[in-house]
Amino acid sequence: MVDSFDLDVNGARRRVESDPDRTLLSVLRDDLGLTGAKYGCGEGQCGACTVLLDGKAVRSCITRVGAAAGKAVTTIEGLAKEEKLHPVQEAFLAEGAMQCGYCVPGMILSACSLLSRIPQPTDEEIFRGMEGNICRCCAYGRMQAAVKRAAQGGRR
Ligand code: FES
Repeated sequence: MVDSFDLDVNGARRRVESDPDRTLLSVLRDDLGLTGAKYGCGEGQCGACTVLLDGKAVRSCITRVGAAAGKAVTTIEGLAKEEKLHPVQEAFLAEGAMQCGYCVPGMILSACSLLSRIPQPTDEEIFRGMEGNICRCCAYGRMQAAVKRAAQGGRR
């Protein structure tokens, strides 16, 4: 059943005409043209589709779009402000924390969620906070360093 509702996506109100049971990932990518969140497993297991819902990392491939109504959705496209990258994006660049890049939007948003909960995480807390995000190129060491760098204000 198609319904009409508003989503708050990256600070802008977006009107959506959709079955509320569709996935948030599908609506973001196919209806709103926000392709930063990626389709990986489609089962909530890999983290490629991670976005923030009211600041908390969620798997958009298993989140009903209807459940996002009235909440703030942040995708990778919404992190940079006025041409300035978000500190976590800067840290990923500084550490070269990517290989193919497919998992990176989800990794960065999971890192943002982690750092909002734990601003100065230990190595173990970074490991635990990011373990639901899979990188098939195995750039985990550099990603760990990037999260640490972001937590230290861009220094290492
Ligand atoms: Fe959503 Fe893998 S595509 S967790």
